Amino acid sequence: MPKLIAANFKMNGSFSFIEEWFNAFNKEDASSNEVIVALPAPYLGMSGNGNVKISAQNVSTKESGAYTSQISVSMIADNNVSYCIIGHSEAREYLNESNEDIKAKYDLLIENKVKPIVCIGESLETRESNETFDFITKQLEHFKNIEDEITFAYEPIWAIGTGLVPSDDDIEQVVKHIRSHFSQTVKILYGGSVKGENASNLLNNLDIDGVLVGGASLNPQEFAKIAQSC
Ligand code: PGA
Repeated sequence: MPKLIAANFKMNGSFSFIEEWFNAFNKEDASSNEVIVALPAPYLGMSGNGNVKISAQNVSTKESGAYTSQISVSMIADNNVSYCIIGHSEAREYLNESNEDIKAKYDLLIENKVKPIVCIGESLETRESNETFDFITKQLEHFKNIEDEITFAYEPIWAIGTGLVPSDDDIEQVVKHIRSHFSQTVKILYGGSVKGENASNLLNNLDIDGVLVGGASLNPQEFAKIAQSC
């Protein structure tokens, strides 16, 4: 099975940066994995060429109307975007998004044929007080009755942008916990300080279906190395 290798540019880049990034990445990449790049909203119309598919980084819970600053799912779909990240810990924190909001976004995306990537993951405080599994269960609660294939990204908040990565065993335990809530196929990506040097272990030795890469994805050569490490 090909893995899903996702770049999350967050609030970085420009037209010229992204154009150059695509050129450099496509020159390097020879993997048969599915590669997606989550671009900032103004650049969603850019084409990745080659094998690269485009993802949005968020979407509104509203379909249209007087919601200044928000971006609707039909606007995303109009740009031929294949995926949309929802529930990223940075959006949960800075935009005050709740589990209910994230489920509403999920439903709108499915209706509009854009594939959601639902981010979940615990803070350091939650992990240190041994509440990780309960916390993850709560984040999954609204998704329990979904019957179709679903994609989650397990991103421990304390691993994002810090250079810290949980042990293989810790990742596997959470992945198993997530899968135990569902009877259907669940795709699970791991995210949090994925780099060229740790991608091969994560992708080849753990029961995950891909990775979500922030900081290291901004370097096209390094991201191509990650994409080719399995
Ligand atoms: P990071 O970010 O790879 O820079 O840790 C991952 C993410 O936030 O998706």
